[in-house]
Amino acid sequence: MQQLLSFPGGFMERIFELIDKLEEETCLTREEWVTLLEGRSQEAAEYLFQKARKWQKKYFGNKIYTRGLIEFTNYCKNDCYYCGIRKSNQKAQRYRLSQEEIMECCHVGYELGFRTFVLQGGEDGYFSQKVLEDLVAGIKRQYPDCALTLSIGERSYESYLGFFQAGADRYLLRHETADENHYGTLHPPRLSLENRKRCLFDLKKIGYQTGTGFMVGSPGQTAEQLAVDMMFIRKLEPHMVGIGPFVPHHDTPFAGEPGGTVELTLFLLGLLRIMMPELLLPATTALGTIDPQGREKGILAGANVVMPNLSPTFVRKKYELYDNKICTGDEAAECWDCLSQKMKQIGYELAVGRGDYKEENVCTM
Ligand code: SAM
Ligand code: FES
Repeated sequence: MQQLLSFPGGFMERIFELIDKLEEETCLTREEWVTLLEGRSQEAAEYLFQKARKWQKKYFGNKIYTRGLIEFTNYCKNDCYYCGIRKSNQKAQRYRLSQEEIMECCHVGYELGFRTFVLQGGEDGYFSQKVLEDLVAGIKRQYPDCALTLSIGERSYESYLGFFQAGADRYLLRHETADENHYGTLHPPRLSLENRKRCLFDLKKIGYQTGTGFMVGSPGQTAEQLAVDMMFIRKLEPHMVGIGPFVPHHDTPFAGEPGGTVELTLFLLGLLRIMMPELLLPATTALGTIDPQGREKGILAGANVVMPNLSPTFVRKKYELYDNKICTGDEAAECWDCLSQKMKQIGYELAVGRGDYKEENVCTM
């Protein structure tokens, strides 16, 4: 703080300068990130969000891309300390959707206007390479005009390549935290940041539209670690970044930890938008869970994607990553209508289309 107060132009001016610098040069030093994050204020956030919306409008107009999320299995061999479907949670009611049930989700989603399906699940050995490749190929055969995203955790290069050759277009794998020590406090020893990063670089190399991200306010997170996260994202140059608040789950080791805040999540969304203006940036369900207007606020801070749930209602409550997750009782159509209304109220519109990352979105401003 002492250091911040000693800036010649004053503390507030320094924060505004750093926002301008990030927008112009698209990167900051670690010290600058820390100063900006620790020194943020409501005024700075408003200044940032105006800039973020300018870029969002330039690349996406008032269109919000939609992705239909299919949570197809909650079995997981991993034991991430924050996650409600971790292996050690004996109370989780486990389920797997059949191929027919997954195809039915796609059918319902397609009729509603979804042109991207996201298959997300725990790391479930039941879904072998062959089963998953057949599933991917089957969905792409039936819906050739749709994009297919996978979010099924860490695999080998060959495995990712196999899914890509079967037709998968995109892959979501949050790095969770780019700080080695912090990674070790969120995950059991058999998981490593090194392998998580290896996966992300493999995915990019293969040609996937690749998404990374992290939880905001995960236990023990500091401004220094967030600075490292932002610098890692800049280096990876992903096509998508999913960030949402950490929300505690009552049957995990982090049950008693405080959750992440709306305020910091929105600020980081704004920073991501001005750092990489063409990013696909979801306003996440976790954000909507801790604030009934969370997703609208996320869009107004610079996000441009929403991911309504297409999973059948009979499994929704079982994919409980954190407490009080929203939309667990609604049919897919209700989710679409509800979000469509929410977006209209703030002057945006759900887009029908694949909503790909566009390389030609090269900055001309
Ligand atoms: N198994 C895949 C993976 O590891 O990427 C996908 C499923 S995993 C449940 C999807 C994401 O949920 C994680 O990347 C994590 O950031 C998020 N998540 C898990 N527990 C959470 C919690 N308690 N609060 C907020 N987000 C959480
Ligand atoms: Fe595997 Fe959360 S621990 S999905």
